[in-house]
Amino acid sequence: MDGDGIDDRMTIGAAAERLGVATSLLRYYEQRGLIQAERTAGGQRRFARDVLRRVSFIRAAQQVGLPLAEIEQRLATLPPERAPTVEEWEALAAAWQPRLDDQIRTLIGIRDGLARCIGCGCLSLDACHVFNPADRAAGDGPGAVYLTRDAP
Ligand code: FES
Repeated sequence: MDGDGIDDRMTIGAAAERLGVATSLLRYYEQRGLIQAERTAGGQRRFARDVLRRVSFIRAAQQVGLPLAEIEQRLATLPPERAPTVEEWEALAAAWQPRLDDQIRTLIGIRDGLARCIGCGCLSLDACHVFNPADRAAGDGPGAVYLTRDAP
């Protein structure tokens, strides 16, 4: 409620509509502790408006490929009981910048690796980022290891 006694908390439907996400996603984020909701006497969720910024932050981080567990760790540095201040959001963003820079470098490497292969077709054992005969990349770890590092 604000100083005029007006309840400006959002229903899950209103928050989901404003964010452009499914209500099930907000329930999932709440279940994981990424966002919090109060309950009405009837048991309905009510979200403070800062949930919009928190969810936008989560979605943006996921869009650049960061794992939810890492996002969760970062959000845990913010106060859970109130809306973070601008300074607290800025501190979080500044602390995360090196990690985001790493992720951007990885994405650029993937983009360039794929771009090199499209229309190439050489499937070079020494230079190709997608050719992986007999799954020899398996010994280097899980995932698409050739795409997420420099050329083999
Ligand atoms: S197909 Fe030529 S570098 Fe990948």
